[in-house]
Amino acid sequence: MMNLTQKPICLTGVKPTGVPHLGNMLGAIRPAIEFGLSGDYDSFLFIADYHALISMHDAKLLRQYNYEVAATWLALGLDPNRMAIYRQSDIPEILELHWILSCFTIKGLMNRAHAYKASVDHNIELGRDGDHGVNIGLYTYPVLMSADILMLNSHVVPVGADQVQHIEIARDIASHFNHVYGEIFRLPKAIVQKDSRLVPGLDGRKMSKSYQNHMPLFMSSKDIKKHINKIVTDSSDPTTPKNPDESIIFDLFTFFATAEEIQNLRDHYSRGIGWGEAKAQLQNVIERELKIPTEIYRDYIEHPKKIEDVLQLGKEKTRPLARKFLDEIKNKIGL
Ligand code: ADP
Ligand code: TRP
Repeated sequence: MMNLTQKPICLTGVKPTGVPHLGNMLGAIRPAIEFGLSGDYDSFLFIADYHALISMHDAKLLRQYNYEVAATWLALGLDPNRMAIYRQSDIPEILELHWILSCFTIKGLMNRAHAYKASVDHNIELGRDGDHGVNIGLYTYPVLMSADILMLNSHVVPVGADQVQHIEIARDIASHFNHVYGEIFRLPKAIVQKDSRLVPGLDGRKMSKSYQNHMPLFMSSKDIKKHINKIVTDSSDPTTPKNPDESIIFDLFTFFATAEEIQNLRDHYSRGIGWGEAKAQLQNVIERELKIPTEIYRDYIEHPKKIEDVLQLGKEKTRPLARKFLDEIKNKIGL
């Protein structure tokens, strides 16, 4: 089986869908960067722009989202000299492999993939034909994801729990291929981060774009304040003792403050604290955490050429590996 790099390969992809929120940063982006830079792997992160095309048909916005995602990861600590970052559409070999893999993918496997199934269920609920509005891209999306992963013969793939089914599909397709042609593809392993604490949203539920209760990264001071002010509080006066363990403000504070600051705020709650004061303290720690990343982010967004240079570097590292492996695959199948 071909090893494309000296160390095992760790690969993950992100769909460009706009600026991520605090929950994404703490629950997904930072852990993925730490894992990628741990030194145990040759790490690759790519922007899944062909995946985004399934649902996003606005050229200007797609280009903007690609840049925003790249700038976000760079601002949060991705070192492009230690971890390759590339755009999926810069590696056309992935699409060649996508077709090859399609010919080893049982149609029924796609019928069971959850993104497609969710669309069908939704249509049926609304009394429409199950395939209403479903394009073939959405239907065969797990094959494209398999091509992303198998293109580099990846060892491990850090993903959220909702993506595990797709890694299973990649393994299935790879096994099918290997059964015919010999051990070409490594069966990739999903790595799911467990035990991470969920960041609460401004209404106390899990912070999520779909609940519209999120705080986007890289906001101005004024906008951070506006968001924090959406947290609903009671009308008790500042001298009334308050329970920190029932406070969204306190909960959010704990993600950004030191142990000593957390204890101090806890004591302040017991003595009585005005909600305005508690919110101001939350704003301080969030701004402290994001000050430098926000500066880096803005600098990249104002200088897209810098983002292009980084993506070019990622492409130069990745594409030759993909080409070499694809040639071997084509050779095996008689092309
Ligand atoms: P959203 O719910 O905003 O659409 P996604 O489902 O796209 O976010 O999540 C992307 C990644 O961010 C997931 O892998 C998940 O682990 C992480 N994540 C999302 N929301 C939170 C949260 N509130 N707390 C911790 N991690 C989160
Ligand atoms: N499907 C993933 C998501 O929606 C993104 C993705 C595309 C991906 N290709 C990948 C993740 C390959 C890991 C590996 O989050």
